[in-house]
Amino acid sequence: MTTTELDRAGSVVTTPGGTDLAVHAEGLVKTFGEHRAVDGIDLAVRPGEIFGVLGPNGAGKTTMLRMLATLLKIDAGRAEIFGVDVAGNPHVIRQLVGVTGQYASVDENLTARENLWLFGRLLGIASPRARRIATELLGQFGLEEAANKPIAQFSGGMRRRLDLAASLISRPPLIFLDEPTTGLDPRTRGQMWDTIRSLISDGCTVLLTTQYLDEADQLADRIAVIDRGRKVAEGTPDELKTAVGNSTLQLLLTQPGEVPTAAEVIRRVLGSDPVFSPERGRLNVALDQADLAADVLIALRTAGVSISSVSVAKPSLDEVFLALTGHEADGDRDSDGDDETGTEENR
Ligand SMILES: Nc1ncnc2c1ncn2[C@@H]1O[C@H](COP(=O)(O)OP(=O)(O)OP(=O)(O)O)[C@@H](O)[C@H]1O
Ligand SMILES: [Mg+2]
Repeated sequence: MTTTELDRAGSVVTTPGGTDLAVHAEGLVKTFGEHRAVDGIDLAVRPGEIFGVLGPNGAGKTTMLRMLATLLKIDAGRAEIFGVDVAGNPHVIRQLVGVTGQYASVDENLTARENLWLFGRLLGIASPRARRIATELLGQFGLEEAANKPIAQFSGGMRRRLDLAASLISRPPLIFLDEPTTGLDPRTRGQMWDTIRSLISDGCTVLLTTQYLDEADQLADRIAVIDRGRKVAEGTPDELKTAVGNSTLQLLLTQPGEVPTAAEVIRRVLGSDPVFSPERGRLNVALDQADLAADVLIALRTAGVSISSVSVAKPSLDEVFLALTGHEADGDRDSDGDDETGTEENR
Protein backbone atom coordinates (compact mmCIF):
# COMPACT_ATOMS: atom_id res chain seq x y z
CA MET A 1 0.00 0.00 0.00
CA THR A 2 1.35 3.36 -0.94
CA THR A 3 1.87 5.83 1.84
CA THR A 4 1.85 9.22 0.31
CA GLU A 5 1.75 11.76 3.10
CA LEU A 6 0.45 15.26 3.14
CA ASP A 7 2.03 18.01 5.18
CA ARG A 8 -0.05 20.76 6.79
CA ALA A 9 -0.30 22.85 3.68
CA GLY A 10 -1.48 19.85 1.74
CA SER A 11 1.73 19.43 -0.23
CA VAL A 12 2.86 15.94 -0.91
CA VAL A 13 6.03 15.25 1.01
CA THR A 14 6.71 11.74 -0.24
CA THR A 15 5.92 10.32 -3.61
CA PRO A 16 6.72 6.66 -3.31
CA GLY A 17 5.70 5.80 -6.85
CA GLY A 18 8.96 7.36 -7.95
CA THR A 19 7.40 9.88 -10.30
CA ASP A 20 7.72 13.62 -9.96
CA LEU A 21 4.47 14.23 -11.73
CA ALA A 22 1.20 15.39 -10.21
CA VAL A 23 -0.72 13.47 -12.85
CA HIS A 24 0.79 10.78 -15.02
CA ALA A 25 -1.61 8.98 -17.33
CA GLU A 26 -0.82 6.59 -20.14
CA GLY A 27 -3.22 5.35 -22.77
CA LEU A 28 -6.39 6.25 -20.89
CA VAL A 29 -9.51 4.83 -22.50
CA LYS A 30 -13.19 5.11 -21.67
CA THR A 31 -15.80 3.48 -23.86
CA PHE A 32 -19.53 4.10 -23.69
CA GLY A 33 -21.16 1.38 -25.78
CA GLU A 34 -19.45 1.61 -29.15
CA HIS A 35 -18.19 5.11 -28.54
CA ARG A 36 -14.65 5.69 -27.31
CA ALA A 37 -15.18 8.93 -25.40
CA VAL A 38 -11.53 8.90 -24.30
CA ASP A 39 -9.36 7.10 -26.79
CA GLY A 40 -5.83 6.57 -25.53
CA ILE A 41 -4.82 9.81 -23.85
CA ASP A 42 -1.41 10.35 -22.23
CA LEU A 43 -1.07 13.15 -19.75
CA ALA A 44 1.81 14.50 -17.67
CA VAL A 45 1.01 17.31 -15.28
CA ARG A 46 3.88 18.74 -13.28
CA PRO A 47 3.46 19.82 -9.68
CA GLY A 48 2.77 23.52 -9.28
CA GLU A 49 1.51 24.17 -12.76
CA ILE A 50 -1.84 25.00 -14.26
CA PHE A 51 -2.40 22.43 -16.94
CA GLY A 52 -5.19 23.13 -19.39
CA VAL A 53 -7.15 20.51 -21.27
CA LEU A 54 -8.68 22.29 -24.18
CA GLY A 55 -11.35 20.83 -26.39
CA PRO A 56 -14.80 21.39 -27.79
CA ASN A 57 -18.09 19.92 -26.55
CA GLY A 58 -17.96 16.16 -26.37
CA ALA A 59 -14.16 15.96 -26.74
CA GLY A 60 -13.91 13.76 -23.65
CA LYS A 61 -12.64 16.30 -21.11
CA THR A 62 -15.09 15.57 -18.31
CA THR A 63 -14.85 11.84 -18.88
CA MET A 64 -11.07 12.03 -18.55
CA LEU A 65 -11.23 14.07 -15.35
CA ARG A 66 -13.82 11.73 -13.87
CA MET A 67 -11.59 8.73 -14.53
CA LEU A 68 -8.63 10.48 -12.91
CA ALA A 69 -10.79 11.40 -9.92
CA THR A 70 -11.92 7.76 -9.47
CA LEU A 71 -15.51 8.72 -10.30
CA LEU A 72 -15.48 6.59 -13.46
CA LYS A 73 -13.76 3.28 -14.05
CA ILE A 74 -10.66 3.39 -16.27
CA ASP A 75 -11.34 0.94 -19.13
CA ALA A 76 -7.76 0.75 -20.36
CA GLY A 77 -4.45 2.43 -19.69
CA ARG A 78 -3.30 3.60 -16.29
CA ALA A 79 -2.97 6.75 -14.24
CA GLU A 80 -1.00 7.85 -11.22
CA ILE A 81 -1.55 10.91 -9.09
CA PHE A 82 1.57 11.94 -7.18
CA GLY A 83 2.83 8.45 -7.84
CA VAL A 84 -0.29 6.73 -6.48
CA ASP A 85 -2.06 4.34 -8.82
CA VAL A 86 -5.58 5.68 -9.39
CA ALA A 87 -7.38 2.40 -10.00
CA GLY A 88 -5.67 0.63 -7.10
CA ASN A 89 -6.01 3.31 -4.42
CA PRO A 90 -9.23 5.25 -4.90
CA HIS A 91 -9.45 6.32 -1.26
CA VAL A 92 -5.93 7.80 -1.33
CA ILE A 93 -6.65 9.54 -4.61
CA ARG A 94 -9.76 11.16 -3.17
CA GLN A 95 -7.61 12.76 -0.48
CA LEU A 96 -5.17 14.07 -3.04
CA VAL A 97 -7.69 15.56 -5.44
CA GLY A 98 -10.25 18.29 -5.00
CA VAL A 99 -12.97 18.10 -7.60
CA THR A 100 -15.36 20.94 -8.21
CA GLY A 101 -18.87 20.08 -9.18
CA GLN A 102 -19.18 17.29 -6.67
CA TYR A 103 -20.65 19.68 -4.13
CA ALA A 104 -23.39 20.81 -6.47
CA SER A 105 -25.97 19.46 -4.09
CA VAL A 106 -25.44 22.22 -1.55
CA ASP A 107 -28.36 22.93 0.72
CA GLU A 108 -30.15 25.91 -0.80
CA ASN A 109 -31.60 26.98 2.51
CA LEU A 110 -28.31 27.09 4.35
CA THR A 111 -25.98 30.06 4.10
CA ALA A 112 -22.59 29.87 2.39
CA ARG A 113 -20.90 29.78 5.76
CA GLU A 114 -23.16 27.00 7.01
CA ASN A 115 -22.61 24.97 3.86
CA LEU A 116 -18.83 25.19 4.11
CA TRP A 117 -18.96 24.30 7.78
CA LEU A 118 -21.21 21.34 7.00
CA PHE A 119 -18.87 20.03 4.29
CA GLY A 120 -15.99 20.33 6.74
CA ARG A 121 -17.93 18.33 9.32
CA LEU A 122 -18.78 15.70 6.69
CA LEU A 123 -15.06 15.38 6.04
CA GLY A 124 -14.57 14.65 9.72
CA ILE A 125 -13.15 18.04 10.72
CA ALA A 126 -13.94 19.18 14.27
CA SER A 127 -16.56 21.90 14.52
CA PRO A 128 -14.39 24.88 15.64
CA ARG A 129 -11.80 24.08 12.97
CA ALA A 130 -14.49 23.66 10.32
CA ARG A 131 -15.82 27.08 11.30
CA ARG A 132 -12.35 28.62 11.04
CA ILE A 133 -11.74 27.06 7.63
CA ALA A 134 -15.14 28.30 6.41
CA THR A 135 -14.27 31.87 7.41
CA GLU A 136 -10.85 31.64 5.76
CA LEU A 137 -12.30 30.33 2.50
CA LEU A 138 -15.11 32.90 2.43
CA GLY A 139 -12.41 35.55 2.65
CA GLN A 140 -10.20 33.97 0.04
CA PHE A 141 -13.08 33.75 -2.42
CA GLY A 142 -14.51 37.20 -1.80
CA LEU A 143 -17.70 35.77 -0.37
CA GLU A 144 -17.62 37.53 3.03
CA GLU A 145 -20.50 39.82 2.26
CA ALA A 146 -22.67 36.97 1.09
CA ALA A 147 -21.49 34.60 3.81
CA ASN A 148 -24.69 34.74 5.75
CA LYS A 149 -27.10 34.63 2.82
CA PRO A 150 -28.85 31.42 1.82
CA ILE A 151 -27.38 29.86 -1.32
CA ALA A 152 -30.78 30.20 -3.00
CA GLN A 153 -29.97 33.93 -3.38
CA PHE A 154 -26.53 33.38 -4.93
CA SER A 155 -25.66 34.31 -8.51
CA GLY A 156 -24.06 31.77 -10.84
CA GLY A 157 -20.60 33.23 -10.26
CA MET A 158 -20.99 33.15 -6.48
CA ARG A 159 -22.12 29.52 -6.63
CA ARG A 160 -19.11 28.64 -8.74
CA ARG A 161 -16.77 30.27 -6.24
CA LEU A 162 -18.48 28.55 -3.33
CA ASP A 163 -18.18 25.24 -5.15
CA LEU A 164 -14.46 25.79 -5.61
CA ALA A 165 -14.13 26.87 -1.96
CA ALA A 166 -15.87 23.67 -0.87
CA SER A 167 -13.45 21.55 -2.88
CA LEU A 168 -10.55 23.16 -0.99
CA ILE A 169 -11.74 22.39 2.54
CA SER A 170 -9.61 19.29 2.76
CA ARG A 171 -6.64 21.19 1.29
CA PRO A 172 -5.98 18.81 -1.56
CA PRO A 173 -2.66 19.35 -3.37
CA LEU A 174 -4.30 18.82 -6.77
CA ILE A 175 -7.47 20.54 -7.95
CA PHE A 176 -9.56 19.50 -10.93
CA LEU A 177 -11.61 22.30 -12.40
CA ASP A 178 -14.07 21.26 -15.05
CA GLU A 179 -14.91 24.30 -17.15
CA PRO A 180 -14.69 26.67 -14.20
CA THR A 181 -15.96 29.73 -16.05
CA THR A 182 -18.50 28.41 -18.53
CA GLY A 183 -21.52 30.68 -18.43
CA LEU A 184 -19.92 33.42 -16.35
CA ASP A 185 -19.92 37.06 -17.45
CA PRO A 186 -16.53 38.53 -18.42
CA ARG A 187 -15.92 40.31 -15.13
CA THR A 188 -16.76 37.29 -13.00
CA ARG A 189 -14.64 35.19 -15.30
CA GLY A 190 -11.68 37.48 -14.65
CA GLN A 191 -12.22 37.13 -10.90
CA MET A 192 -12.32 33.36 -11.25
CA TRP A 193 -9.04 33.46 -13.18
CA ASP A 194 -7.43 35.42 -10.34
CA THR A 195 -8.74 32.89 -7.86
CA ILE A 196 -7.32 30.01 -9.88
CA ARG A 197 -3.93 31.73 -10.09
CA SER A 198 -3.98 32.23 -6.34
CA LEU A 199 -4.36 28.46 -5.87
CA ILE A 200 -1.03 27.99 -7.58
CA SER A 201 0.69 30.55 -5.41
CA ASP A 202 -0.60 28.55 -2.42
CA GLY A 203 1.28 25.52 -3.73
CA CYS A 204 -1.56 23.67 -5.45
CA THR A 205 -1.47 22.04 -8.87
CA VAL A 206 -4.44 22.69 -11.13
CA LEU A 207 -5.78 20.57 -13.94
CA LEU A 208 -8.53 22.46 -15.68
CA THR A 209 -10.66 21.83 -18.68
CA THR A 210 -11.99 24.54 -20.88
CA GLN A 211 -13.53 25.08 -24.26
CA TYR A 212 -12.34 28.67 -24.20
CA LEU A 213 -9.15 29.20 -26.09
CA ASP A 214 -8.46 32.50 -24.41
CA GLU A 215 -8.91 30.91 -21.00
CA ALA A 216 -6.30 28.26 -21.69
CA ASP A 217 -4.05 30.95 -23.14
CA GLN A 218 -4.44 33.21 -20.09
CA LEU A 219 -4.19 30.62 -17.37
CA ALA A 220 -2.38 27.51 -18.42
CA ASP A 221 1.36 26.90 -18.28
CA ARG A 222 0.85 24.02 -20.64
CA ILE A 223 -2.07 22.85 -22.70
CA ALA A 224 -3.19 19.55 -24.15
CA VAL A 225 -5.61 19.99 -27.02
CA ILE A 226 -8.07 17.14 -27.23
CA ASP A 227 -10.56 16.34 -29.92
CA ARG A 228 -12.82 13.31 -30.19
CA GLY A 229 -11.16 11.53 -27.32
CA ARG A 230 -7.62 11.97 -28.59
CA LYS A 231 -4.82 14.36 -27.81
CA VAL A 232 -3.98 16.27 -30.95
CA ALA A 233 -1.32 18.58 -29.55
CA GLU A 234 0.46 19.61 -26.40
CA GLY A 235 2.71 22.46 -25.38
CA THR A 236 2.86 25.92 -23.89
CA PRO A 237 0.43 28.42 -25.38
CA ASP A 238 3.38 30.01 -27.20
CA GLU A 239 4.61 26.71 -28.59
CA LEU A 240 1.18 25.91 -29.93
CA LYS A 241 0.91 29.31 -31.53
CA THR A 242 4.37 29.07 -33.06
CA ALA A 243 3.31 25.79 -34.62
CA VAL A 244 0.99 27.71 -36.91
CA GLY A 245 3.42 30.47 -37.91
CA ASN A 246 4.26 33.87 -36.52
CA SER A 247 1.21 35.59 -37.90
CA THR A 248 -2.12 34.59 -39.29
CA LEU A 249 -3.86 36.18 -42.22
CA GLN A 250 -7.61 35.83 -41.95
CA LEU A 251 -9.66 36.27 -45.08
CA LEU A 252 -13.37 36.39 -45.62
CA LEU A 253 -14.24 35.97 -49.28
CA THR A 254 -17.14 37.81 -50.88
CA GLN A 255 -18.08 34.63 -52.75
CA PRO A 256 -17.76 31.48 -50.64
CA GLY A 257 -17.68 29.49 -53.89
CA GLU A 258 -14.26 31.00 -54.59
CA VAL A 259 -12.62 29.26 -51.63
CA PRO A 260 -11.03 26.49 -53.75
CA THR A 261 -9.55 29.08 -56.16
CA ALA A 262 -8.26 31.18 -53.27
CA ALA A 263 -6.74 28.11 -51.62
CA GLU A 264 -4.96 27.26 -54.88
CA VAL A 265 -3.54 30.79 -55.18
CA ILE A 266 -2.34 30.79 -51.57
CA ARG A 267 -0.71 27.40 -52.01
CA ARG A 268 1.14 28.75 -55.06
CA VAL A 269 2.38 31.89 -53.26
CA LEU A 270 3.32 30.38 -49.90
CA GLY A 271 3.82 26.72 -50.66
CA SER A 272 1.46 25.78 -47.85
CA ASP A 273 -2.26 25.21 -47.51
CA PRO A 274 -4.64 27.65 -45.86
CA VAL A 275 -7.14 26.29 -43.37
CA PHE A 276 -10.77 26.77 -44.23
CA SER A 277 -13.25 27.18 -41.41
CA PRO A 278 -16.64 26.23 -42.79
CA GLU A 279 -18.36 27.46 -39.64
CA ARG A 280 -17.22 31.01 -40.18
CA GLY A 281 -16.60 30.89 -43.90
CA ARG A 282 -13.09 32.12 -43.21
CA LEU A 283 -9.72 31.19 -44.62
CA ASN A 284 -6.82 31.26 -42.20
CA VAL A 285 -3.35 31.48 -43.62
CA ALA A 286 -0.28 30.90 -41.45
CA LEU A 287 2.54 33.31 -42.30
CA ASP A 288 6.18 33.12 -41.32
CA GLN A 289 6.38 36.88 -41.73
CA ALA A 290 3.51 39.30 -41.53
CA ASP A 291 4.56 41.10 -44.73
CA LEU A 292 3.90 37.98 -46.82
CA ALA A 293 0.25 38.97 -46.39
CA ALA A 294 0.73 41.58 -49.12
CA ASP A 295 1.95 38.95 -51.59
CA VAL A 296 -1.10 36.81 -50.90
CA LEU A 297 -3.51 39.71 -51.31
CA ILE A 298 -1.96 40.85 -54.58
CA ALA A 299 -2.04 37.31 -55.98
CA LEU A 300 -5.69 36.93 -54.98
CA ARG A 301 -6.61 40.18 -56.69
CA THR A 302 -4.74 39.14 -59.81
CA ALA A 303 -6.71 35.89 -59.78
CA GLY A 304 -9.95 37.88 -59.50
CA VAL A 305 -10.87 36.59 -56.04
CA SER A 306 -12.80 39.23 -54.18
CA ILE A 307 -12.29 39.65 -50.44
CA SER A 308 -14.79 41.16 -48.04
CA SER A 309 -12.58 41.36 -44.96
CA VAL A 310 -8.91 40.94 -44.10
CA SER A 311 -6.94 40.90 -40.89
CA VAL A 312 -3.43 39.93 -39.85
CA ALA A 313 -2.98 38.91 -36.26
CA LYS A 314 -0.78 36.87 -34.00
CA PRO A 315 -2.34 33.44 -34.07
CA SER A 316 -4.83 32.79 -31.34
CA LEU A 317 -5.42 29.37 -29.89
CA ASP A 318 -8.50 29.40 -32.08
CA GLU A 319 -6.29 29.25 -35.13
CA VAL A 320 -4.14 26.64 -33.49
CA PHE A 321 -7.15 24.45 -32.94
CA LEU A 322 -8.38 24.98 -36.43
CA ALA A 323 -4.98 24.19 -37.91
CA LEU A 324 -4.67 21.03 -35.83
CA THR A 325 -8.11 19.61 -36.27
CA GLY A 326 -9.52 21.23 -39.40
CA HIS A 327 -12.56 22.47 -37.50
CA GLU A 328 -13.30 25.20 -35.05
CA ALA A 329 -13.26 24.57 -31.36
CA ASP A 330 -16.71 26.04 -30.92
CA GLY A 331 -18.17 24.68 -34.13
CA ASP A 332 -21.34 22.62 -34.13
CA ARG A 333 -20.61 18.98 -34.44
CA ASP A 334 -22.49 15.73 -34.63
CA SER A 335 -22.34 13.81 -31.39
CA ASP A 336 -21.21 10.71 -33.24
CA GLY A 337 -18.06 12.59 -34.13
CA ASP A 338 -18.15 11.60 -37.76
CA ASP A 339 -18.69 14.98 -39.30
CA GLU A 340 -15.71 15.74 -41.42
CA THR A 341 -15.22 19.38 -42.24
CA GLY A 342 -14.18 19.89 -45.73
CA THR A 343 -16.99 20.46 -48.16
CA GLU A 344 -15.78 23.88 -49.18
CA GLU A 345 -18.62 24.67 -51.52
CA ASN A 346 -21.26 24.47 -48.84
CA ARG A 347 -22.04 27.77 -47.15
N1 LIG B 1 -22.28 8.40 -19.03
C1 LIG B 1 -22.20 8.44 -20.35
N2 LIG B 1 -22.81 7.54 -21.13
C2 LIG B 1 -22.70 7.57 -22.46
N3 LIG B 1 -21.98 8.47 -23.14
C3 LIG B 1 -21.34 9.40 -22.44
C4 LIG B 1 -21.41 9.45 -21.00
N4 LIG B 1 -20.66 10.48 -20.57
C5 LIG B 1 -20.15 11.06 -21.68
N5 LIG B 1 -20.56 10.43 -22.79
C6 LIG B 1 -20.15 10.76 -24.18
O1 LIG B 1 -18.76 10.80 -24.21
C7 LIG B 1 -18.31 11.87 -25.02
C8 LIG B 1 -17.40 12.77 -24.23
O2 LIG B 1 -18.17 13.43 -23.25
P1 LIG B 1 -17.55 14.43 -22.21
O3 LIG B 1 -18.64 14.84 -21.29
O4 LIG B 1 -16.33 13.83 -21.61
O5 LIG B 1 -17.11 15.64 -23.13
P2 LIG B 1 -16.56 17.08 -22.72
O6 LIG B 1 -15.30 17.26 -23.45
O7 LIG B 1 -16.54 17.19 -21.24
O8 LIG B 1 -17.66 18.03 -23.34
P3 LIG B 1 -18.28 19.41 -22.76
O9 LIG B 1 -17.35 20.50 -23.18
O10 LIG B 1 -19.59 19.52 -23.48
O11 LIG B 1 -18.44 19.28 -21.27
C9 LIG B 1 -19.56 12.54 -25.55
O12 LIG B 1 -19.81 12.04 -26.84
C10 LIG B 1 -20.63 12.13 -24.58
O13 LIG B 1 -21.87 12.09 -25.20
MG1 LIG C 1 -17.48 18.42 -19.92
